[in-house]
Amino acid sequence: MKHIQTQLAKMSIDEKLHILAGSGFGNNGAARPPMNLKKDVSGVAGYINGVHNEKLDIPATALADGPAGVRIIADSDEATAHYNSTAWPIGSLLASTWDSDLITEVGKAFGEEIRDLGVDFILAPGQDIQRNPLNGRNFEYYSEDPLLTGRSSAAIVRGIQSNGVGATIKHFVANNSETNRQQVNEIITPRSLREIYLRGFQIAIAEGKPWALMTSYNQVNGAYNNARSDLLLSILRDEWHFEGLVMTDWFAGDTDQPGTQVAAGNDMIQPGGDQVFQNLKTAYDNGVLTDEMVDRSVSRILEQVCRTPGYLMQDFAGSVQHKDEHLALVRRAAAEGMVLLKNDQALPAEPRETMAVFGINQVNTYKGGTGSGDVNVSSTATLADGLSSQFDCDSKLLTFYTDYFEQNRVASNGGLGVSNGYTCDEPTIDDDAMTQYANSNDIAVICIGRQAGEGADRANEAGDYLLSDAETTLLQQVATTFHDQQKKVVVVLNVNGVVDTSWADDVDAIVLAYMPGQDGTYAVADILSGKTNPCGKLAQTFPVSYEDVPSASTFPGVDTTDDGAVDTEYYNEGIYVGYRYYTTFNHDVAYPFGFGLSYSNFELSDQRIVADHLSLGQYGNLVLTASVTNTGKVAGKEVAQVYVSAPQGALDKPAIELKSYAKTKLLHPGETQELVFLIPSELLASFDPEHERWLIEAGHYQFFISNSSDVSNTRPLDLNITKEIALMKTTSGALALPDDVSEDSFVTVTQ
Ligand code: GLC
Repeated sequence: MKHIQTQLAKMSIDEKLHILAGSGFGNNGAARPPMNLKKDVSGVAGYINGVHNEKLDIPATALADGPAGVRIIADSDEATAHYNSTAWPIGSLLASTWDSDLITEVGKAFGEEIRDLGVDFILAPGQDIQRNPLNGRNFEYYSEDPLLTGRSSAAIVRGIQSNGVGATIKHFVANNSETNRQQVNEIITPRSLREIYLRGFQIAIAEGKPWALMTSYNQVNGAYNNARSDLLLSILRDEWHFEGLVMTDWFAGDTDQPGTQVAAGNDMIQPGGDQVFQNLKTAYDNGVLTDEMVDRSVSRILEQVCRTPGYLMQDFAGSVQHKDEHLALVRRAAAEGMVLLKNDQALPAEPRETMAVFGINQVNTYKGGTGSGDVNVSSTATLADGLSSQFDCDSKLLTFYTDYFEQNRVASNGGLGVSNGYTCDEPTIDDDAMTQYANSNDIAVICIGRQAGEGADRANEAGDYLLSDAETTLLQQVATTFHDQQKKVVVVLNVNGVVDTSWADDVDAIVLAYMPGQDGTYAVADILSGKTNPCGKLAQTFPVSYEDVPSASTFPGVDTTDDGAVDTEYYNEGIYVGYRYYTTFNHDVAYPFGFGLSYSNFELSDQRIVADHLSLGQYGNLVLTASVTNTGKVAGKEVAQVYVSAPQGALDKPAIELKSYAKTKLLHPGETQELVFLIPSELLASFDPEHERWLIEAGHYQFFISNSSDVSNTRPLDLNITKEIALMKTTSGALALPDDVSEDSFVTVTQ
């Protein structure tokens, strides 16, 4: 932009380098204030320095976390409380709505709060692939599938940025575990990177146009992502034409060499500070950083900064406005994402039914995860609050759990950052009392909660992925006692991600509520009462057991140097992540990707391929349609998903891959809606590593339009492609495996 060039001409090299280096960690005193600070939003995660000289006046601009809401930690509790904002449903729950318009609506409201609080860039959304259920940050991310991930990210980015503030998609790329996250080296084949780990970012950039991107902590194939020019220049800029600014994660990579990072295309070093500035200065003096590189990155930063409220010196409220509207939206979005996994005539429960609510999680409820993905809120309703807002819940039982929690809870600062959460063990209930509760209530609800956050991964053990012994005892005791009286038992999962459900046969219904955000527990009551007909679909597979996960044997990596720390993680499953694995190698799952029950029934019909423009190559596409009819007794919504089964040519392929999806409006009984699905060529293509190009191979393709990734009962649509269609050539040698690792050295999954 011309005026940026004019500004550059008015800057000294030091002023430019201060822009490339952030203002230092935590502007609440831990570092000198940002340069040219006009608005002090004390407690944000960082700032972009401004410039003030006789010719220029560029204000510093504010960066704040996180994916579930604006997180500001000021230097006092009352100051922090001043910035309390809305905690939105976690990424996994938003993705489970399969509704881009709704996610954009959430983004728009989220963006209002970003603006109200004086923040210019939000460090969100997080969109790394949920490769393994035990990743500590999965709650911040969307899905195991790159299309659902990319579309969900693009949707919230559009919403956020409609307020004139910037979104920062993160963490680029393959931040799929937290164990030793700042050093771990992910060994991933170029095809897996392109088709699985990069594709979601590619879609988010193309369809969301985020103003910023954050590189990840980890290495890929032997080099830190924030210092890889193949990733940050060749792919991100030359292939994808990304126009935003690129920042590091906080203290990421080889922090002594920020000049190398900027030279590789990582424009800004966060959180920065004086030492970073000095190291940049040294790199400049030594020629590692040239004027061309400095100006390139400063331009990219200023092009985004000049759009922000901070740069434009626009007033801001200083506290969150429209709170009630936003809480109502949390409730609606959370309800639309919750997934009904099982329902044996238990739900919806009648409002007159008296309810016995078990589980300490009913009073120790999780609105979201911990670390930078946490949000400081003024208050949030527990599951007990939510359920008792619509049901007559047994007060004696609630008192028992409330008292137990008060007497036994332990404050926990779960992982990094402020998370004023608690842990508390699961109390036991003696048999006589249990019998009494069964006698005096019509239905039982058991609340199971799980917490997680950045800085640590989860564990495949009791109390985390598996139920604790006390939870197992409670569940069996409730099930036996209530079933003896022909009464139903419902489990509500207030969890950060996938958990073991081997106990499912013991209960009558399971509602996956995830972490529903602030007061999102009212949405749980809406689902249980039928005020909202559940329409969420799984964005991640629930396997029969953790051992079935293809990366179970490699997660979270190995210690190859015997120094006690994991340092290398082999992505041996290649492109076979999630449902791509279970369907290809015929492994049963507990609940499949894309699955979710309703209180109604829907019928798909009239599936067709209505247009084939694939011959247009890079700009080609396919258009399919299908009709959805509500054949049930209550109004509801359905998500139709299009999976392709591509021919096994020179490239092996997963049994099916998601290529499009659409959600109906609220359909009344008997009502039908036709849905249209567009599949662009580049989404249909596979990555051909030998020729380093995207390719649609010739052969027989089948398209399944289904309501989940279980397409066993779906008649496919057939398409023969007589001649292969080569699409875009990509950067030669990009993302190559390290010299000491080759494709055949991978022990990839073969079953
Ligand atoms: C963290 C996280 C990143 C966050 C940043 C600033 O370590 O990895 O997601 O935005 O630091 O808090």
